Amino acid sequence: MSTLARIKELEAEATAAISAAADTAALEELRVKYLGRKSELTGILRGIGSLPPEERGPVGKEANRVRGALEEALECSHEALAAAELQRRLEADRVDVTLPGTRPVRTGHLHLITQTRREIEDIFAGLGYRVLDGPEVEHDFYNFTALNHPPGHPARMLQDTFYIDPQSLPDGVRNEEGLPPGPRDVLLRTHTSPNQVRAMEVSEPPLFVIVPGTVYRRDTMDATHLPMFSQVEGLAVGEDVTLADLAGTLQEVARALFGPERETRLKPDFFPFTEPSVQVDVSCFRCNGTGKLPDGSRDGVCKGTGWIEILGAGMVDPNVFGFVRDGRYDPERIQGFAFGMGIERIAFLKHGLPDLRIFYENDVRFLEQF
Ligand code: DAH
Repeated sequence: MSTLARIKELEAEATAAISAAADTAALEELRVKYLGRKSELTGILRGIGSLPPEERGPVGKEANRVRGALEEALECSHEALAAAELQRRLEADRVDVTLPGTRPVRTGHLHLITQTRREIEDIFAGLGYRVLDGPEVEHDFYNFTALNHPPGHPARMLQDTFYIDPQSLPDGVRNEEGLPPGPRDVLLRTHTSPNQVRAMEVSEPPLFVIVPGTVYRRDTMDATHLPMFSQVEGLAVGEDVTLADLAGTLQEVARALFGPERETRLKPDFFPFTEPSVQVDVSCFRCNGTGKLPDGSRDGVCKGTGWIEILGAGMVDPNVFGFVRDGRYDPERIQGFAFGMGIERIAFLKHGLPDLRIFYENDVRFLEQF
């Protein structure tokens, strides 16, 4: 067969193979086979010099034409096949963003104290209270003096804390002009009560706020004491807020926390910043106020009394209004109640826990139960 005839045969064979190729990988094999360095056509082009002179022109021309034609056919098919392959890949990879997600096997969850704090916040938000935040590093003025614990008052001794040297604070914070009157001490707050005066300094009456947060005391840790714990402060002030409102509000809250059947009672107590001061007890949710378990034994949760102390409260002492800067709270015109509850204590009672320290030991066997 003449070289020219063989070139034509190769063209026909390659063209048929190219149009039959199923994918781009098959096309690439055909390109190597028909146009690669070791292909027959390349061999023919390379061998042109050894052909008789009169054949060189026509064979060279024909071989180059076929080479060009095959290159074009390959490119054409490649475009079509690559587009189809992309389409298939896109379809296979499609993500349906409307499908529900797959949950990671182990997700974390909120700590029981955070859950309890949020539950308390929700209850008060439902009663129309605002939730505020206050500083954990506090001035002596707000923590003690403005709450009717003047310097040297013995009630200060019940709440010893960690003191911070104001000189150690950065310049802007240390600015004497900005410090409230009284002792210059800066300390870790011993309760959330300093936010009573802080809240009144930034808002006009009537005022209904709660302030949750962490507090510190110089206490050794045992089953019922922690040197760091959480409280929620509450303050309701207006022209006609009475002790009856305190009783009604806290009964509502006790029922939301411990069940709709709960009763509450107020007992006299003492706090320097409330007058009168009360302790609020809730009827025991375990024994239903009887002090006895179904088998006749003494209920350990309420220690057989049928009542559990849940918080301290009282009517805001007029002196406290007097400590609000700018005198915007006139004790002749307004009155109100305040209360403070321990979040650990609420969670501890609700879940019948044996020991307060368990909240901060971070034992996952405990944490995972809530
Ligand atoms: N601050 C008090 C404490 O830590 C709790 C408390 C009692 C807060 C009576 C109040 C209150 O607002 O009226 O022991």
